[in-house]
Amino acid sequence: MKNENSLILSFETSCDETSVAVIKNGKEILSNIVATQIKSHQRFGGVVPEVASRHHIEQITICLNDALQKAGVTYSDLTGVAITYGPGLVGSLLVGITAAKVVAWAHQLPLIPVNHIAGHIYATNFDHPIEFPALALVVSGGHTELVWMPKEGEFKIIGETRDDAAGETYDKIGRVLGINYPAGPQVDQMAHLGHDTFAFPRAMEKNDNFDFSFSGLKSAFINTVHHADQINATLDKNDLATSFQQAVIDVLVSKAMRALDKYPAKEFILAGGVAANRGLRERLDQELEKRDVEFVKAPLKLCGDNAAMIGAAAEMLQRHGAKADMSLNANPGLEFEWAENEEE
Ligand code: KG4
Ligand code: ZN
Repeated sequence: MKNENSLILSFETSCDETSVAVIKNGKEILSNIVATQIKSHQRFGGVVPEVASRHHIEQITICLNDALQKAGVTYSDLTGVAITYGPGLVGSLLVGITAAKVVAWAHQLPLIPVNHIAGHIYATNFDHPIEFPALALVVSGGHTELVWMPKEGEFKIIGETRDDAAGETYDKIGRVLGINYPAGPQVDQMAHLGHDTFAFPRAMEKNDNFDFSFSGLKSAFINTVHHADQINATLDKNDLATSFQQAVIDVLVSKAMRALDKYPAKEFILAGGVAANRGLRERLDQELEKRDVEFVKAPLKLCGDNAAMIGAAAEMLQRHGAKADMSLNANPGLEFEWAENEEE
């Protein structure tokens, strides 16, 4: 007889992490294997899509076997197979989708399609089930989005970056400082050692919308460093990092607080790779203490891309009837379907 519990095998290959997990009832991580490709992309200063898909092909069956073994389960114990089908790099997504389809088809299991952003948000569901209505700030190497969730299963993007994502900006300015990809963690550390002495722009901070723009900040930063190089001036790298991080945090936090004024959330969620940023967590702690909103941060080990978060989102989506067949394809620009006809 089939397991009474939900036991989902989940795959995540949207960018440069190959990950496979086994998740029980959407809440318990039995295994979460993550094979990172960071070293292979470092010499290029960012993720090279062709290199990423080749690595996924090499790693996917190894991660799958490890995930099942570590969880102590076999295919016959599973109740579903979850897969990130977008947004992300098409060649990378396709590797995970193919693996998930093969397992689902061979073992007659339902295939559950998961939006990567929903996955990042559900990284918070392990310690504490999400309470609705909720507002999430998802900040990563590929995304900077404010997501409104009036009830379980409904996601609406109310604001997003118009150009670079926050993490991408960290990685690009980090390159100018001679920091290896991904630069976020080191810039974050340096930012705690310097002083805010450079007046970098805070684009769109005062605009009456919830969108972001980081390309002006990136250019201002790079121009400042290049100009100093040309005149043989030495700038304090920690001060540069502090001023940069301050500008990023000011914009993210002021937009998020403005969104909370309009969207009455019970819970505010911070997720995605940049959610590991110490400065951002501290600043949101201070701001949210003044409001009647619970602040839920993704656990540090689940901020970056991983399949556990995909399995947690899949359990919820499966309860809401999400199901795909063998025609499921990668959708690099996947957006949320929005069920309700909202006023705007
Ligand atoms: O979520 P993630 O693993 O991958 C994407 O979906 O993009 O996020 C990776 C991004 C990288 O840009 C990395 O530099 C950034 O998250 N990151 C950070 C920190 N830790 C990782 N950015 C700022 N501060 C951090 N502590
Ligand atoms: Zn991600």
